Amino acid sequence: MLNYFDKNAEYWWSGNSHLVLLRCLNPARLDYLRKIYSEKPRRILSGTRVLDVGCGGVLFAEELAKLGVPVTGIDPSILSIKVADQHARQSELAIDYYAAHGEQLPFKTSAFDIVCCCDVLEHVNDLNLVIKESARVLKPGGVYFYDTINRTWFSKFTVINLIQEWEFARVMPRGVHDWNKFIKAQELDEIMIRNNLEPRDRIGLHPKMDPVANIKRLFMLRKVKRGRIRYSRLAEGMIFRPGRRQFINYMGYSIKKVRI
Ligand SMILES: C[S@@+](CC[C@H](N)C(=O)[O-])C[C@H]1O[C@@H](n2cnc3c(N)ncnc32)[C@H](O)[C@@H]1O
Repeated sequence: MLNYFDKNAEYWWSGNSHLVLLRCLNPARLDYLRKIYSEKPRRILSGTRVLDVGCGGVLFAEELAKLGVPVTGIDPSILSIKVADQHARQSELAIDYYAAHGEQLPFKTSAFDIVCCCDVLEHVNDLNLVIKESARVLKPGGVYFYDTINRTWFSKFTVINLIQEWEFARVMPRGVHDWNKFIKAQELDEIMIRNNLEPRDRIGLHPKMDPVANIKRLFMLRKVKRGRIRYSRLAEGMIFRPGRRQFINYMGYSIKKVRI
């Protein structure tokens, strides 16, 4: 569905596209990453080299760059990379961007301290190869940080039926997500272990479970679709938080083994 991200590249920073909803994930991702890194002895986050695989038109990588971290972003969507580069220049953030696939990273072995793969693994063609490449460019002892979508009946109902298929709630076209590409945590662990990444932690990532607020949001969605309010208004208050439930989104990290 790469075509989709190319076609929608101009909307990464617009408050009037569902892509703005991805920003709701960033505060929890950043807090989690900071916590992981502060637990590593004698290390601080700033000064370490970070690679964001599948960075898109860039929401998360800019948050990282604001911490003073040297960030590199790659994405196969050339138009998204152009938007990302333009936006980073306007924001005076030094981020290096490359158009590339996660399956073939244009970097030397052990080049990065942290590799992030946020909301990307469920879109790639060759999951094993993307993880293998990420592990290759990671230094021994480095952090592989990810978030993705679990393959459960609930993710089928929410991410596929509700927001892709059912007309009244649809925010993106059919096919952007393929339920068969969603990943069970155990499958991901097995692939990471095969590629010398040692899984350390995993938690759920979801908006506050507030049925009343969620029903209100469904009604707001109708207004968004009629052009009466913007997607950014829908995103307000929909901040994702870490939690125990992993039946839709989950995030976690692994450490690259020091001796293989
Ligand atoms: C949902 S967006 C996530 C963007 C960003 N990581 C974020 O969380 O805001 C998914 C991104 O994955 C990228 N993508 C798709 N296939 C990929 C691949 N094989 N390797 C790397 N990125 C890929 C898409 O172009 C798109 O920008």
